[in-house]
Amino acid sequence: MAGEDRTGKKTAQGGAPGVRKLDRREVLMGLSTVPALGLFGYAWSRQRRYQQAKLQEAAAQPVAAGDLQEINVALLGAGAQGQVLTDAMLRIPGLRFRAVCDVWTEYNQKRVVNSLRKFKHEVNAYEDYREMLDKEKELDAVVIATPDFWHERHAVDCLKAGKQVYCEKEMSNTLEGARAMVAAARETGKLLQIGHQRRSNPRYLHCYERLLGEAKLLGRIVTINGQWNRALTPDLGAPDRYAIPEARLKQYGFRDMRQFRNWRWYRGLGGGPIVDLGSHQIDIYSWFLGTNPSAVTARGGTLYHDPVTHEWYDTAMVVYDYDTPLGPAMGYYQTQTTNGSQGYFENFMGDQGTLLISESDVHGARLYRDTNAPAWDTWVQKGFIAAPRIQEVKEKADTAVTDVRESVSPDEHQVPIVIRDPFHQPHLQNFFDAVRGKATLNCPSEEAYATAVAVLKVNEAIEAKSRLSFKPEDFKI
Ligand SMILES: NC(=O)c1ccc[n+]([C@@H]2O[C@H](COP(=O)([O-])OP(=O)(O)OC[C@H]3O[C@@H](n4cnc5c(N)ncnc54)[C@H](O)[C@@H]3O)[C@@H](O)[C@H]2O)c1
Repeated sequence: MAGEDRTGKKTAQGGAPGVRKLDRREVLMGLSTVPALGLFGYAWSRQRRYQQAKLQEAAAQPVAAGDLQEINVALLGAGAQGQVLTDAMLRIPGLRFRAVCDVWTEYNQKRVVNSLRKFKHEVNAYEDYREMLDKEKELDAVVIATPDFWHERHAVDCLKAGKQVYCEKEMSNTLEGARAMVAAARETGKLLQIGHQRRSNPRYLHCYERLLGEAKLLGRIVTINGQWNRALTPDLGAPDRYAIPEARLKQYGFRDMRQFRNWRWYRGLGGGPIVDLGSHQIDIYSWFLGTNPSAVTARGGTLYHDPVTHEWYDTAMVVYDYDTPLGPAMGYYQTQTTNGSQGYFENFMGDQGTLLISESDVHGARLYRDTNAPAWDTWVQKGFIAAPRIQEVKEKADTAVTDVRESVSPDEHQVPIVIRDPFHQPHLQNFFDAVRGKATLNCPSEEAYATAVAVLKVNEAIEAKSRLSFKPEDFKI
C-alpha cells in the first residue's frame, strides 16, 4: 500500500487625524489602542496580545543551553510574521540573535530590536540586507519573512553569502524565482528550509506517519475537501508619523504606504489568496496523498472588493485531480477572504474513514470510522487515537417512520496530540537541528518547489477558465 513521496520517503498511502499622542515606549511596545490608532492600532493590538502572551511564555524558557553550539541568527523582515518567528525562536535554546534587517526603520525594525534587547540579544539594526551581509561576518543563519516578491533575491543572496536560510512561504510568487532559489541552495550546498510549518507539526506528523502510514485507517483516500475562509481584512494602515519616505518605498518596490502595508492585495507583490493561504494546505494534499496533482480546474473572482485596490481575486474554488499509488483521487479547495466561516482545515476521505485535520485548535484532528471498516480497537489501545465519542442518537418517536436508507453516523475519534509550542517552533527547531547536522530538513526547497508548481498553476487556471494538466516532470527540478 505504501508509495514514495516527493522526497522518496515512504508515504501514507503509498495615520489617522486626531489620534492620541502615544509616548515612545507605548508605541514601541505596541500598546496602541483601537481608538487611538484606528485600524492600524486594531491590527497591532491583536498582534501584540498574542505576542505578549508568547513573550511571557518565552521568558520562562531557557534561551541558551551550555552544551549546544550557539547559532548566530539574523531576522530579515520584522513585520507580523517576523515577530511571530522571533517569539518562537526565543524559545529555542542555543540561538544568538545578531541582527535585524527591515526597511520600516520607523516602526517594525525598532519594535523587534527592542523586544530582542529585552531578552539580552544585542542586535545590530539594518535597513539594507546587503549591508547586513557585508558587515555581519559571524552570521550562521538568516530567517526571512519579507513579502513574497522579495524572497528570491533575499534567499539567493543570503545563500551566496554562505548563510543557512529559513525562508517563509510562498517560496516565491514566480516559478522562475523559486527555481533560482533551489539552484542557489544546490550551488552553495547551504540549507534552504521553506516555511510550510505543518510539515514539522506533531499533529500532522502523527497523522501522516501513524494513522495513514502505519495503521492505514483511511483505507484508500478518494476525495479531499479543504478550505481557508478568512474574514474581511481591513486596510492595515499606518499613522503618518511612521510613514516611510516615498523615495525609500520606491527603492524597495512599493508605490505608497497603502501598497507597502497591504502588499498581499497586489499582483507582482503577493500571489493572491491561493498562494497566501492555500499553499499551506495544498502542500498537505500532495504530502498525504504521496503524489503531485495531474490536473487543476479553478474559478476565481473579485466578488466583493474594489478591483482597483484588490488586484487579486478575493474568492477561489479549485479542483485538483491526482493519480495516487492506490488510484485516482480528487481534491477540492476553497479560499475566500470575505467571511471566516469555519476557518481552515483539510478533510481527507478514504473508503474506510475520514481525517479532519487543521493547524488550528478549533478543529484539531478527528477521525471518523466508516461502518464498513474493520474495528479500530487496536489503534485505540496503542494510543494512536482516542476511544470513540458516543454519537448522539436521536430518539425517534414511536409514530415516526424510520427510513432504512438513512446513514448511521460514524464513530468520532480524537487524535490525542496536544500542541503546546507555538505553531512555527517545531519547523524552526527542525531547521536549527539541521544547521547543527542533527536532522534533515522537513521542507527543503525542492519539496516547496513542487508545492509552488501546484499552487501557482491555480492562478493560470483562473485566467484560462479551463482545466490545465501537469506533467510529472513539471514538479522536478
Ligand atoms: N507560515 C505562515 O504561516 C505565515 C504566516 C504569515 C505570513 N507568512 C509569510 O511571511 C512573509 C511576511 O508576511 P507578513 O505578514 O509578516 O508581512 P508584513 O508586511 O507584516 O511584514 C513584512 C516586513 O518586511 C519588511 N520589508 C519589506 N521589504 C523589505 C526589504 N526589501 N528588505 C527588508 N525588509 C523588508 C517590511 O518593512 C515589513 O516589516 C510573507 O512571505 C508571508 O507569506 C507566513
